[in-house]
Amino acid sequence: MCGIVGILGRAPVAEQIVDSLKRLEYRGYDSAGVATLENGELTRRRAEGKLKNLEAKLAKSPLAGHVGIGHTRWATHGKPTEANAHPHAADGVAVVHNGIIENFRELRIELEKQGAVFASETDTETVAHLVNSFIKKGAKPVDAVKQALPRLKGAFALAFVFKDHDDLMVGARKGSPLAVGFGDGEMYLGSDAIALAPFTDDICYLEDGDWVVMNHKGCEIFDEAGKPAKREVLKSGASAFMVDKANYRHFMAKEIHEQPEVVGHTLARYVDMASERISLPTELPFDFNDVQRISIAACGTASLAGFVAKYWFERFARLPVEVDVASEFRYREAPVRKGDLAIFISQSGETADTLAALRYAKAEGMHTLAVVNVPTSTIARESETVMPTLAGPEIGVASTKAFTCQLMTLAALAVAAGKARGVLSDADEAKLVHGLVEIPRLMTEALTHEHEIEKLARDIAKSKDVLYLGRGTSYPLALEGALKLKEISYIHAEGYAAGELKHGPIALIDETMPVVVIAPYDKVFDKTVSNMQEVAARGGRIILMTDAKGAEEATVDSMVTIVMPDMSAAFTPLVYAVPVQLLAYHTAVVMGTDVDQPRNLAKSVTVE
Ligand code: AGP
Repeated sequence: MCGIVGILGRAPVAEQIVDSLKRLEYRGYDSAGVATLENGELTRRRAEGKLKNLEAKLAKSPLAGHVGIGHTRWATHGKPTEANAHPHAADGVAVVHNGIIENFRELRIELEKQGAVFASETDTETVAHLVNSFIKKGAKPVDAVKQALPRLKGAFALAFVFKDHDDLMVGARKGSPLAVGFGDGEMYLGSDAIALAPFTDDICYLEDGDWVVMNHKGCEIFDEAGKPAKREVLKSGASAFMVDKANYRHFMAKEIHEQPEVVGHTLARYVDMASERISLPTELPFDFNDVQRISIAACGTASLAGFVAKYWFERFARLPVEVDVASEFRYREAPVRKGDLAIFISQSGETADTLAALRYAKAEGMHTLAVVNVPTSTIARESETVMPTLAGPEIGVASTKAFTCQLMTLAALAVAAGKARGVLSDADEAKLVHGLVEIPRLMTEALTHEHEIEKLARDIAKSKDVLYLGRGTSYPLALEGALKLKEISYIHAEGYAAGELKHGPIALIDETMPVVVIAPYDKVFDKTVSNMQEVAARGGRIILMTDAKGAEEATVDSMVTIVMPDMSAAFTPLVYAVPVQLLAYHTAVVMGTDVDQPRNLAKSVTVE
């Protein structure tokens, strides 16, 4: 939930650290800070709020040190104040941390008994004092860290610098990602490849339990047992994705408009466009004929992509699917079968609950498959099979292009499963694949409705509550529409199966309650029309998202009808996601909220 960065440089590093933190702001932005080593002395600058407040502080009182660490925070322990901002220090030790130290209270009591004086409410400061306590007993900095790490319980990525040691930086990783960057006479630490992109493409990811000792020339990596470990140095390619807004007002707007392109990339990865057949790039290490049930575990929007995929696996492959939010799956000890398939969906690939669910499934002997946007992420590296979504870095905290790329990936896998199990004939496959091949074009068409949706958003922005209804694969999309609206506009919204309306939610309906109905014309369309009539009869205002036939058949005076292009009924969520996303986006713009970095949220939730 936080971003950390460290530079062992040959020139002043404070500005570079701030530049890197800007690329990490999507991980959290309650406060930020930098510590550098100058003539052996540790000096800090920290600020509450957005990074620009730290920049202003540094402009007024610059730091000249060539070695430094930085941090952008999403508060877990202690309010987002300057005193709680990282880096935290204890005498000659400064540290930045991403994660949660679960046993920090007992450690703090122990350290206070030894005379430690704390200046913050954070778990992180405990780490600084713990390392310092070993230094005070005569340990050298590296040894002090080595003694401290086993005392820490929880998930963490840490970076340390030490007074009087301007050719030393120590990092450690357990549960939260940490990458080492290799420069020319410089070395770097960062939460991810994007943070290190301004400095280098040559990176290696530490594994859980690893810790690293760095100097300007290189590094030594050790595993949890203290044994030297070799970690592969990759070309991150992150710098190739210049992360800017292009000519859009927000990253979210850019990423919504990127969807036809990036979903096209994903399509091309999993479909042989020439033969219009599914072609998974890697041989699956399991046979779908041996799979009796699929478990899908994910969080938030990713879990809703999984919910849509449930319909596809059940329809195309006749495979029963259970979808869980990962935080439930990991604790309910689901009775799963060895050899069955567990699918984990995650944009960041670092979501703690999804990672824990993956580890549970592996321990139960399931085949594990990750659908992720970061192929070097922890979830990817711990899964048996990885299917990258190829959406490119998604900076807006609200997931848009990652969601539709997840859907494309899952659709390809579901068709492949149906083929492998002999449920789908060649002709069925060709028809479905053709439906997928059309998606990028159809998304482009859906985007042409932006202006009418922008107008509609001005109305929605006046609402206190909004209801989203859908049937079949439009039901999880209704849930996603509600999530998108509430997380960026802060207007309360709920998604419901349309058939559930009369079992409770109808009590909410009055003229103040807009009801967004996602209903392409299909075999249950007339059932949904009855739901709309029930809403209209109570003065509810309807926004109908349908196609030309649906618009014609709808016998209800809906408030607004957004007519989507005709398409294969099987894959409508991929295209109807566009108006759903645009409605949330433009409503948030009218509300004046921080669209790309909504309050209280973080892009990657790496703590429970
Ligand atoms: C999406 O709009 C949300 N910001 C959030 O629900 C997100 O989908 C969830 O936290 C899962 O993240 P992941 O895909 O990185 O695992």
